[in-house]
Formats: sequence, C-alpha cells, structure tokens
Amino acid sequence: MLREGKIWIANTEGGTPVYMLPKMSNRHGLIAGATGTGKTVTLKVLAESFSDMGVPVFLADVKGDIAGMLEAGVDSENMQERIKRFGLSEHGFEYRNYPTTLWDLYGKNGIQVRTSISDMGPLLLSRILGLNDTQSSILTIAFKIADENGWFLYDTKDLKALLNEISENNKDYAAEYGNIAKQSVGAILRAVVALELEGGEQFFGMPELDIRDWLTTDTDGRGMIHILDSQSLINNGTLYSTFLLWLLSELFETMPEVGDLEKPKMVFFFDEAHLLFKDTPKALLDKIEQVVKLIRSKGIGIYFITQNPRDIPDGVLAQLGNKIQHALHAYTPSDQKAVKAAADSFRENPAFKTADVIEALGTGEAVASFLQEDGTPSIVEKVFILPPQSKMGGIDDAVRQNAIKSSNLYSKYAVAVDPDSAYEMLDRKNQEEEAAEERAKADEAAAKQQAKDEAAAKKAAQKEAEKEFNRRKRAAKSVGTTVAGTVGREVGKKVGKQLGGKFGQTLGGNTGAQLFRGLLNTLLK
Ligand SMILES: Nc1ncnc2c1ncn2[C@@H]1O[C@H](COP(=O)(O)OP(=O)(O)OP(=O)(O)O)[C@@H](O)[C@H]1O
Ligand SMILES: [Mg+2]
Repeated sequence: MLREGKIWIANTEGGTPVYMLPKMSNRHGLIAGATGTGKTVTLKVLAESFSDMGVPVFLADVKGDIAGMLEAGVDSENMQERIKRFGLSEHGFEYRNYPTTLWDLYGKNGIQVRTSISDMGPLLLSRILGLNDTQSSILTIAFKIADENGWFLYDTKDLKALLNEISENNKDYAAEYGNIAKQSVGAILRAVVALELEGGEQFFGMPELDIRDWLTTDTDGRGMIHILDSQSLINNGTLYSTFLLWLLSELFETMPEVGDLEKPKMVFFFDEAHLLFKDTPKALLDKIEQVVKLIRSKGIGIYFITQNPRDIPDGVLAQLGNKIQHALHAYTPSDQKAVKAAADSFRENPAFKTADVIEALGTGEAVASFLQEDGTPSIVEKVFILPPQSKMGGIDDAVRQNAIKSSNLYSKYAVAVDPDSAYEMLDRKNQEEEAAEERAKADEAAAKQQAKDEAAAKKAAQKEAEKEFNRRKRAAKSVGTTVAGTVGREVGKKVGKQLGGKFGQTLGGNTGAQLFRGLLNTLLK
C-alpha cells in the first residue's frame, strides 16, 4: 500500500510502519524463503503498491496464484484480523482488483508472447537449444551469414532454412567463415526440431512483443501489471529462464538512460529465480550481472524471488539493495549454513540474532532491510507483511479467458503472421538456382540440337551437291556420248565418204602414216 508517498510493505513487531522508498526501488531486491512462507503474497503487496504509484510491473506466474490480482481480495477471518492489526482501514485499504494483462508463451493462458529468432540472438538461443561451444559458434556464424544476406530470421522455419542452406553450401562459405562441419549443423537442426516440439514454433515468430506495450498505465493512472503465465514453462526451465533473460536484455536495449528517478519506470519480479542461473554458462552469467548492474540507471528495478539466497550468484546478490527474507528451515548442516549466509547478508540489529529469527519466522513474517535515502541499507528488522488488496490464489478459467479477450492488446498479438523472411527468401533462391540450372541444361540441349541440325543440314546439302554433281556428270556424260555419237557418225559418214574417194586415190602410192595424216586432216577440215 502507499502511505505518505512511500511503499508501506510491513510493520515491525512494535507496530512501526516499514517502508520501501520509491526512489530506491530501482536498486533491485530479493524475496527469499522456504515454500509456503509468504513470498508470493509479499511480491503481490509490492506489485500493488507500484501499480498504485503508476509504475508498470512484470511478474512471472509459476503457480498460477498471481493471476488472482485481476480480482478483488476475498474477505476472511484471517484477513479481518490482519486489517485490524495493521489499522489498514484508516489508510484506505479495500478489496480491489488491479489492472492486469495476462501473457503466455504458449498463447493459452494469456495473450501470445512472441519474439523473433534474430531478436533472441545466438547466445541465448544456444542456451535454449542446449548447444555445445562448437555448435554455438556455428550458430553465431549462421546469424552473421543471414545478416549479411538480408535473410530475416523470424521463426524456427527461417532458422531451419538457413541451417540447410549453410549445410548444403558449406564449401562456398568456408572461404570466408572457415570450415563448417555438416554434422554440427545437423546437430543444431535436430535441436531446433526438438524445440519446435516443445512449443518453440509458437513463440518464435511475428508479431513479436513490443516491450513498450508494457510500459503503460490504465485510465486511472495505475501501472499495468503484466503477468506471464509460467505454469507449463516450469517444465522447461531453460526456455522459461532464457525468455526472461531476453526480456531483460530487450528492456535494457529499449530503455534510455535516465539516472536515478523519484520512482522507477518499471519493475520486474522473477519468481523461481534459481532457474535463471542454473546451468548457465559463464559468458551469460557475466552478461546477466552486467545488465542487472546497468539497468538501474534506466529506471528498471529487478526483484528476484527464490527459496534460498544462495541460488543467486554473488555478483548479482551483491546488487540487491532491498531484501525480504521469509522463514528458512535449518534441518541439516547445509541448511544451517544457508540460514547463516542469509542472516550475514543483513546489517545487524543488536536487538536479536538474525539467524535465530529467520528460523523461527511464521507465515507472512520476515526479516527485512531496505535502502534508505542516503543509499545505505537499514538495520535488519523483524516484520509482519501487509495483506494484499487483490485476491490471493488463482482464478477460474472463464475469468482468465474473458480477461485475455477483453485486453486492448489482444487483437495486436492474437494472430501470427508469416512475413517474407529467410524461409521464403531461400526458397526463392533455390528455385531460381534450379530454374537457372534447368535453363542452362535446356540451353545446352538446344545448342547440341542446333549443332546436330546444322551437321544434318550440311550433310544433306553435301548429299544434294553430290547428287547434283553426279546428275551433271551423268548429264555431261550423256551429252558427251551423244556428241561423240553424232560426231562419230558424222565423222564416220564424212570420213567414209571421203575415204571412199581419197582412199581409193591415195592408197596405192602412200604409206600408212601418210594415210593417217591424210585421214586426220580430212577430219579436221
Ligand atoms: N502477508 C500475508 N498476509 C496474509 N496472508 C498471508 C501473507 N503471507 C502469506 N499468507 C498466507 O500464506 C499462504 C502461503 O503464502 P505464499 O503463497 O505467499 O507462499 P510462498 O512462499 O509463495 O510459497 P511457495 O514457495 O510454495 O510459492 C497464502 O496463501 C496466504 O494464505
Ligand atoms: Mg509462491
């Protein structure tokens, strides 16, 4: 609840209000405690206060019990007792609902949340796909190739098309990017198919979530509360946590630098935070640590909720300024160590031993410390957390579906679109290449045919010429015969005639040669 412009989160045992300062709430926080000790209720009370201040909030709903915020709280004896104990009625406490938008990566329990493959980037995607270092570096190269060729990567279909292109033409890419083993590309492809079966097909695509849609208030100026249904995601912790990391980096990149403000621009609550850090490669851990450190100056507060503070890496833990520690049980030496570590992270209160108190806390009780005006943490106090004004627990499916459909963001994200991207572009490229190949083949065949036709025509012409030649030859021959015949006959006649006269005259006194010459002369006359 808001009181005197501050977040009234709890009272001390003596009834003194304990506040979290709006201007310090971008210095991040931690809500820890064993199961059933009141973590979810605490985060609801905080989220309500931020919304009342006009600050939008994001919450991941792992058990479905945060969605209750879209309904008013339900009266009970326990609630009445608390309202009285805290004197809440005098400060405007009423059962009421909060402006809530429900989201879901699977599009069932909330508005469909999508992101594109390219926006997720190779580092986070490698984590989702469970790739080893070699495969991961190939995925980074694949992103580079897509980028350089203008092949947009929106959905898993695009990614598969890209990987197939690289696998089929790996020799062409080798000169510029080094050897890309087909086996490694095959392994990535198999991981993508597995991801599709787990629902990845649905949440990678368009239209992708525009994080600016989350930075809004309702008509009364209350910050919108965005709840991501994570009930099924919890079965796939890597997907869930990587998506949350993507949200963080998206926010980090989208938001401008603003320094320290009077109140944050937005607050993120990450429930089951241990999943964010489980099996996370060092490179990614470093990135998370860096984002948590720098996002503060963009006016974003991050609150991690987990059972044990030791689930959170030291580098991140050290940056969480506002801390609420619910009960921890210490049954084993390891548990005792955890309690001691949790207690040691607080600024000591001489009035009690923090570790002892942590072990003995009841439900809705905590030890807490918040950053003060000067930026130093307050001395640890044992506190009683206020009850929420909205409903504790879950909601009926009918209420949920109605809330989803009546949101003004529903229509923007309801239907998936499939714009021109790597899949279509590469399909066209392949078709063009095939067509070019066919054209080349057809051209080759046509050229062959032409050569053949030309050869045949040449042969035919030759044959014809030969025929003509022969015809002429024959014709010439027959002319020769006729001429010879005629000439022969004429000559014969002439010769015969003349021979008859001359032969008789000369034959008596002439030799054979003279006779022949005489004959020839007669012929040539
Ligand atoms: N501040 C509170 N005011 C009123 N009731 C509370 C408060 N805190 C906890 N409770 C009661 O305790 C129950 C369990 O609390 P809650 O669900 O917040 O626990 P949790 O730590 O989130 O558990 P888990 O780890 O299982 O999620 C609530 O349903 C509610 O009835
Ligand atoms: Mg809980």
